[in-house]
Amino acid sequence: MTLTAPSRPLTREPAATPTLMPAPRSLHVMTWGCQMNAYDSGRMADILRPLGYAPVATPDADLVILNTCHIRERAADKLFSELGRLRTLKEARPGGMLIAVAGCVAQAEGAEILARAPYVDLVMGSQAYHRLPVLLEAVTLGGVPVIDTDFPAEQKFEHLPSNQASQGPIAFLAIQEGCDKFCTFCVVPYTRGAEQSRPAASILAEASRLVALGAREIALLGQNVNAWHGEGPDGKSWPLARLLAALADINDLARLRYTTSHPRDMSADLIAAHRSNAKLMPFLHLPVQSGSDLILAAMNRRHNIDLFRRIVGELRDNRPDIALSSDFIVGFPGETDADFEATMKLVAETGFALAYSFKYSRRPGTPAADAPDQVPEPVKNARLHELQALLRLQQDDFNRAQIGQQFDVLFTGPGRHPGQFAGRSPYLQPVIVDATHLTTGQIAPVRITAANPNSLMASLTDVNTELSREHQAA
Ligand code: SAH
Ligand code: SF4
Ligand code: F3S
Repeated sequence: MTLTAPSRPLTREPAATPTLMPAPRSLHVMTWGCQMNAYDSGRMADILRPLGYAPVATPDADLVILNTCHIRERAADKLFSELGRLRTLKEARPGGMLIAVAGCVAQAEGAEILARAPYVDLVMGSQAYHRLPVLLEAVTLGGVPVIDTDFPAEQKFEHLPSNQASQGPIAFLAIQEGCDKFCTFCVVPYTRGAEQSRPAASILAEASRLVALGAREIALLGQNVNAWHGEGPDGKSWPLARLLAALADINDLARLRYTTSHPRDMSADLIAAHRSNAKLMPFLHLPVQSGSDLILAAMNRRHNIDLFRRIVGELRDNRPDIALSSDFIVGFPGETDADFEATMKLVAETGFALAYSFKYSRRPGTPAADAPDQVPEPVKNARLHELQALLRLQQDDFNRAQIGQQFDVLFTGPGRHPGQFAGRSPYLQPVIVDATHLTTGQIAPVRITAANPNSLMASLTDVNTELSREHQAA
């Protein structure tokens, strides 16, 4: 028997904040999917901390949360293989174990998860996790599984506690969630709901807290981040460029990014911010999906190749050192050899520093899943192989072109080998230097000396780096 948690009474109850010291309990969160899911997992741990839950590295824990992704078939399959393993652990564990399924599979499949895996205690959709304390209470008091996949009227983000843990020098901050675009291949509008923008004041407050906790770089997150149009402190609707300008006023915040953008929402003022906002990093993820207008129309992408080309041109005019990354889908229903060649041509003429490419995956309930002209698997495989070979070449070229260049690196901690320190370039490439005197969160200039497939080697160029470091510490 399952109990579907009633949404209204639960939404009105404040998150339980016990006054007595709660009993210590262990929490293990497994995360799949996008950066938004990683951010959500962090926030779940924040909510549970006042209840006595401390994170542990293995699933041998009092509470295990699986934060799932539904984007492609293989991503969703991971949930059930992991649940099988957890069941054995749960049955063998003397203290018992609560298993919660969160995220996009929970949102999409709800009760089906309990039907397939009745040992799951809680199924919680992507908009419900701010209610974790009351949901867990309902599970323990009721002794039956609880499902909450409502899209509540209130904004989840405004109900999350402000006791965030540090994310280190590079932090994520969700500013927008959901999608109204309904690309015909995509589950996100169904799993994350309608587009919502957080108010600027709460974003600025969270950014300041993250900076106080050591963040030097913040990546603003949203499924359609550049569609953000939150309420400003002046009561008016702000565009993203204005929010970025306000964030740039936070002194100790050195770097800003935003991801993932949709070409339709690359407004002129946002493109211009890449020239005027010195803290905005010269690297943009702008998914295009296909180089064929016919396929883009069938995907309901609401942009064509001409618009994408114009945006890229304007971005490069405003910020000549900008580098681009993108997402591609091959084998979308109806994609012919000519459509695929158009994608190859677009990649060749644009030049990407990085890209993610996928075979089209049929997602039940989305319009393209029922299209009659599905592309055979071997054709998809061959196209993916060809596209990835070109993208790999471009990534290698981009990395090699950095050799001899000088830029600032944000150092994130010691490298894998003794005597090394690692950080991130403005283009998010991992950069490794031979140095031990640096500190986490320090920004220092380097010269790139060598390029590996997925990282760069560098030497510090500023002889004063060590001195200025000591000065900072004093
Ligand atoms: N909001 C972003 C990306 C969302 S999902 C955007 O609008 O571009 C991340 C990527 O997964 C997408 O860009 C797309 O390339 C890929 N993707 C989404 N649904 C897919 C599907 N059904 N099959 C294969 N790839 C898919
Ligand atoms: Fe999915 Fe399209 Fe929305 Fe991106 S814009 S999340 S691909 S529906
Ligand atoms: Fe996956 Fe949901 Fe993100 S489907 S990609 S976890 S929005």
